[in-house]
Amino acid sequence: MINISNLKKSFRTEEVETLALNQVNLKVEDGEFVAIMGPSGCGKSTLLNIIGMLDSPTEGTYNFAGNEVSKLKERQRTELRKGNLGFVFQSFNLIDELTVYENVELPLIYLKMGKAERREKVRSVLERMKIAHREKHFPQQLSGGQQQRVAISRAVVTNPKLILADEPTGNLDSKNGIEVMNLLTELNQEGTTIVMVTHSDRDSHYAHRVVNLFDGQIVTESKNRAIGAMM
Ligand SMILES: Nc1ncnc2c1ncn2[C@@H]1O[C@H](COP(=O)(O)OP(=O)(O)O)[C@@H](O)[C@H]1O
Ligand SMILES: [Mg+2]
Repeated sequence: MINISNLKKSFRTEEVETLALNQVNLKVEDGEFVAIMGPSGCGKSTLLNIIGMLDSPTEGTYNFAGNEVSKLKERQRTELRKGNLGFVFQSFNLIDELTVYENVELPLIYLKMGKAERREKVRSVLERMKIAHREKHFPQQLSGGQQQRVAISRAVVTNPKLILADEPTGNLDSKNGIEVMNLLTELNQEGTTIVMVTHSDRDSHYAHRVVNLFDGQIVTESKNRAIGAMM
């Protein structure tokens, strides 16, 4: 699904140039669950943003599901992203002015889906994430764990091929963190590919494979036994 070769990303701010990613090569197969780990500032979020087509590499190639991403026009890239990718962030990133229902409905509006079909999809995902009873609430009226369940609902309502999660349990207590990891594991077992950035050893054990980044480079990769199912 993902094939990244010789990827470099540098940021230039005034006098300073930061090489955030340096010669990264990474393949992710359909159905995999990959964790990216490494110290703060090593390039994890930058890599995830490039995989999510929110940012572009300075050098190198990125192929997503047969598409050479750098060759696409902005419009085509947006289309590819809307239909295939779901994002989950540490700070939930819900829209405070919209209700739970409206937050989850938004990606379907972007896909120009009709209202009746939207209602059916939103209701069904909210049921599944056990947050349907809060559909008229606003994000600020919910606990962190509930907000992350809404954010996961929003990420999966379009039935994406790939979920990108940047420290999805970083703002949660361990009970809610484990619940979020169990939801991600369930989605993965149903076939959704997941790439997750994490600081947490506990969370990394849910992944099939751990990629360690240091100073913008992949330093080690290790395979986990598939223990997600046991937890
Ligand atoms: N938009 C940006 N402008 C300038 N520098 C950036 C930007 N984004 C990230 N960086 C720098 O790139 C490096 C990697 O950042 P990041 O990918 O956010 O690390 P991580 O997620 O592993 O903590 C850091 O040195 C950071 O300061
Ligand atoms: Mg980060």
